[in-house]
Order: sequence, then C-alpha cells, then structure tokens
Amino acid sequence: MKSISFAAVIFCALTIAQTRSSEILVIFPTTAQSHYRVVQPLIHSLLDRGHRILSITNFPDAVERANLSHIDISGLKPHSQFKTSNNGIIKSMTRVIGNAKTYSTILDHPKIGKLLRSGRKFDLVIAEFFTSTPIFAPIATVVDAPIIGFCPMITFPWINEVMGMETTMSYMPSILNNSSDRMSFFQRIYNIVISVIIESVFNWISTPTILQINKYHYGIQTESTIKTMANLSMIMTNNYHSVFLPFPKLPGIVEVGGIHVVDEKPIPQDLNDFINDAQHGVILFSMGTVVSEASMGADKLNNILDAFSKLKQRVIMKFNVEKYKKKLPVNVKVVKWFPQRDLLAHPNVLLFISHAGIMSTIETIHCGKPMVAIPVFGDQIFNTNLLVEKQVAIAIEYKNLESDQLFNAINEALTEKYTINVKKLQQLYNDRPHSPLETAVYWTEYVIRNKNESKELFKSQKVHLNLYQSHLIDIFAAFLVPLIVTIYIIRWTMKRLRKH
Ligand SMILES: *[C@@H]1O[C@H](CO)[C@@H](O)[C@H](O)[C@H]1NC(C)=O
Ligand SMILES: *[C@@H]1O[C@H](CO)[C@@H](O)[C@H](O)[C@H]1NC(C)=O
Ligand SMILES: *[C@@H]1O[C@H](CO)[C@@H](O)[C@H](O)[C@H]1NC(C)=O
Ligand SMILES: *[C@@H]1O[C@H](CO)[C@@H](O)[C@H](O)[C@H]1NC(C)=O
Ligand SMILES: *[C@@H]1O[C@H](CO)[C@@H](O)[C@H](O)[C@H]1NC(C)=O
Repeated sequence: MKSISFAAVIFCALTIAQTRSSEILVIFPTTAQSHYRVVQPLIHSLLDRGHRILSITNFPDAVERANLSHIDISGLKPHSQFKTSNNGIIKSMTRVIGNAKTYSTILDHPKIGKLLRSGRKFDLVIAEFFTSTPIFAPIATVVDAPIIGFCPMITFPWINEVMGMETTMSYMPSILNNSSDRMSFFQRIYNIVISVIIESVFNWISTPTILQINKYHYGIQTESTIKTMANLSMIMTNNYHSVFLPFPKLPGIVEVGGIHVVDEKPIPQDLNDFINDAQHGVILFSMGTVVSEASMGADKLNNILDAFSKLKQRVIMKFNVEKYKKKLPVNVKVVKWFPQRDLLAHPNVLLFISHAGIMSTIETIHCGKPMVAIPVFGDQIFNTNLLVEKQVAIAIEYKNLESDQLFNAINEALTEKYTINVKKLQQLYNDRPHSPLETAVYWTEYVIRNKNESKELFKSQKVHLNLYQSHLIDIFAAFLVPLIVTIYIIRWTMKRLRKH
C-alpha cells in the first residue's frame, strides 16, 4: 500500500513536470499518408497532455481539435506513386534528387514564409526523418527550438551518421536491398555497392541544391547534407528489434515501432456482415497507398482474381481502379479503401496478401496474421525477406505472379505452422517495458524539458571528428611516419657504412 502511494506521489510529480504546455511545430512534408500516420498518435497524445501543436502536413485532421492547427500543403508536391515494375535503385535515387526541388516549393507557401519571418518561437520541432529532412531541419534554428526526427521506416541510410556511428556493412544491411543481417559474400558486396551509391547521391549529388535552398530560405549555411541535420537531438524510428534486426545503436535512436497501430474501432456494417457470414474465413488484399494500382496490368489482375475464384474463403480487395471491376468472382468484394488495422484484428480474417510496406507489416504482426507478400519497391523487399526468414510469410515476386503460384502460396500460408510462428512473433512484439506511444511521449517531453542539453546528450563525439580523426588515420600517421623514417635512415646509414 505504502509503495503504491509513494508511486502515486512520484507519478504526480512527474506529471506536473511534464504538463507545462509547450508550443510544438510538426513538419511532415510527405505525400505518403502512411508516413504521417506514425506521428498522428503522438500529436494526439501531446494535445491530450496540454501542448499546442502546429502541423505542416498534406493530411490535416478531419476533426478539429482545440490547440491543433495546420498549414495544409496538399497539392504543392504531387503524390508520386510507384509503379509495380521497374523500380531499380537508380530510378529511386533520381526521384530523391528531384524531390529536393519540389520540397522547396513547399517553403514558398505564403503561410510558411510568414511563419519563418514572424520571429515566432517554438519549444520543439518534430520533423519527418526522410529524404526531406536536410531541407526542413534548419527550420528548428529559425524558430529557436530543439528538434526530433521521426523516421517512418525501421532505419534510414544516414540515420547512424547523424547520431555519430558507423554503419558496419558486414552485418547491417541496407533496407534498399534484399539481404538480412546474415549476408553471403556476394550480398556483402551488394550491400557495400548499394550503400556507397546511396551515400554518394545523398551526400554529393543533391547537396548543392539542398545547401542553396537552406541558404536562400533560412540564411543558414552548412558544408554538407549531414551537417544540415546536425542539430537533431534524437531520432525515433518505426522499429522494434525483437521483430526486425538487433543492431548496435546510440541512445539518440529511439525505437517506437508500431506507434501507428491505434486502438481498434468498430468495422463498417457491410464489411462486418461480409466477414461474419464467411464460413471459411476471409483473406484481405491490399497493395497500400504508395504502389499505383493503375499500373497493375490486366494480366496480373486476372491471375490474382483467378486464384481468388478457386478459394473457399472470401476475399476483400482494396483496389481503386474502376475499369477492372467487371467480372469479379462471387467470393470477392472490392472496395476503394478499408480500415486495414480493424479488419486484420477480426478473428475471422485469416491472412493478409500485401505489398509488405512497413506499416502493413507491423499491423499484421500486431494482429498475429500470416502474410503472402508481393513486394514492389524500396524497403518492401527487405521487410518481406525478414518475414520469410521468420516463416510467417510467403513471398511472391510481382513480375512472376501466376494464378497457381498465388493459390498455392495462400494455402501454404494458411497452414498451422505459419499461424503458430506469427502468434509467437506477435507476443515478442508486444512484450516491452512501455508501449511505443508512451516511449515516444516520454522522450518528446524529455527533449522539451532539457532543451539546452539534449542536443549533445544522446550522440557520440564522432559527430565532431573529421574523417581522419574518426578512423584514427592521424594516430597511425603519427606512429608510422617516424617509424618508416627511422627504418629508412638506418638502412641508408648501413648502406653507406658497407660501401666504406
Ligand atoms: C489549450 O491550451 C491552453 C493553453 O496552453 C490550455 O489552457 C487549454 O487547456 C488547452 N485546451 C485543451 C482542450 O487542451
Ligand atoms: C545548429 O544550431 C546552431 C546553434 O544554435 C546554429 O548556429 C546552426 O545554424 C544550426 N544548424 C542548422 C543546420 O540549423
Ligand atoms: C541488390 O543489389 C544488387 C546489386 O546492386 C542488385 O542486382 C539486386 O537487384 C538488388 N536487389 C534488390 C531486391 O534490390
Ligand atoms: C535478392 O534479389 C535478387 C534479384 O532481385 C534475387 O536473384 C535473389 O534471389 C534475392 N535474394 C534473396 C535472398 O531473396
Ligand atoms: C538555455 O541556454 C540559454 C542560452 O545559453 C539560456 O539563456 C537559457 O536560460 C537556458 N535554458 C535553460 C532551461 O537552462
């Protein structure tokens, strides 16, 4: 009893310390709605705790809330969906470079220009940690606030460098290739090649554009892309090591994987009836919001529908293209959108056929359902590989998608082995000291409370060392050069002596 009241006193003290109302600026320039979904629960929780938030976003909340305002940037940067084919690394990288220019059109928005010139101060900036970060991070300096990055992926190419750590390529795979942390000789070669390409593009090719934008809009000059993010106190990632990969990481990288999975809501009536009336259960199909459904050829779609027509289960398909809606099998229901997280939680939903984007991957594990993964680009192939390795998913290569193969994959993934494995993974995922949202709220308020100190607190000193210092090249030089000189002098002297 005593300890409970003691805990209550401590809790009250903490609450009082934490609820000082702060002004928070959120910058999520992404046009992928799934990315914004990782920060939305944090925004709502911070509002509940009395903070005031201004969010720069393409996706303003539909329901108005006290103390939450938006700068709506939708329409400024077109939402570029990825096609289902030809998404090579070069193509992805070209888009990254192009992105820098389109992001600068966001800074031309009159409301943002006004905000930057107003002299208004904030207590914290939360910025998407993605390709846009080098362009938007310096806003924190303008509004005199500490800044936290929020990465919608499990990791990102420059994340370690910003916090001051090497990425060890022998066992830390790039998320843009299909290796896991156990790499063969050739996979390690791929990993190095891919990482070098990405680093070069980010650090060199797009740097002049980025630095120019920063100088023009904020009057801030930096010498490299990495330095534009040097003031980040912390980066939250949509990662949790028991599900994904255990890597060494600095305290500045905080895992809040699954933060986007909010409490279940009731399922709309028509879908609920369709699911409840399915005698043999239901399978969900969705390729997410970033893969273009329109780019899926009629042949592939016919293969998919053909496989579905042979199933005894019912299928709910998220598919937003009218022209294909003609001859649907009787067990298939097509909808433009469905509440994926709520449907996955329904006990009569057995399996998810998905592109294995990070949000869907985590939701599926959260709900403990096996997957048939059809990855298309970016981290989807990486996610799929991990799920296949853990034997909770079966992978199908999109370009070889055949009807029989899909039918067999579905039936295989419905076997007991996969269900048992995914239930175990679900339990490992949920077993943590604090929920992802609690963790995110705690560290967010920590940075607000310790504004002056937090910038250096969670990083290694590597961020202040230059290349030759951090690789000890100066030390080697200091010892090796005198040694070599000495050996040379001795040999020269011996030669001279021998001659005489
Ligand atoms: C909005 O913020 C003000 C000032 O911080 C605070 O007093 C008020 O309680 C907040 N309103 C809500 C509904 O949280
Ligand atoms: C980082 O913070 C320092 C000190 O506030 C400031 O001078 C510098 O311009 C900031 N850098 C960036 C890229 O915002
Ligand atoms: C991995 O990298 C290699 C070498 O660049 C490439 O050939 C291969 O297609 C990549 N795999 C994926 C899934 O991107
Ligand atoms: C990785 O991708 C390459 C080409 O995209 C493929 O040949 C290879 O089988 C894949 N490896 C794994 C482990 O998935
Ligand atoms: C943070 O540092 C600034 C400048 O050095 C100082 O004015 C301010 O009082 C400090 N804030 C806190 C909370 O210590």
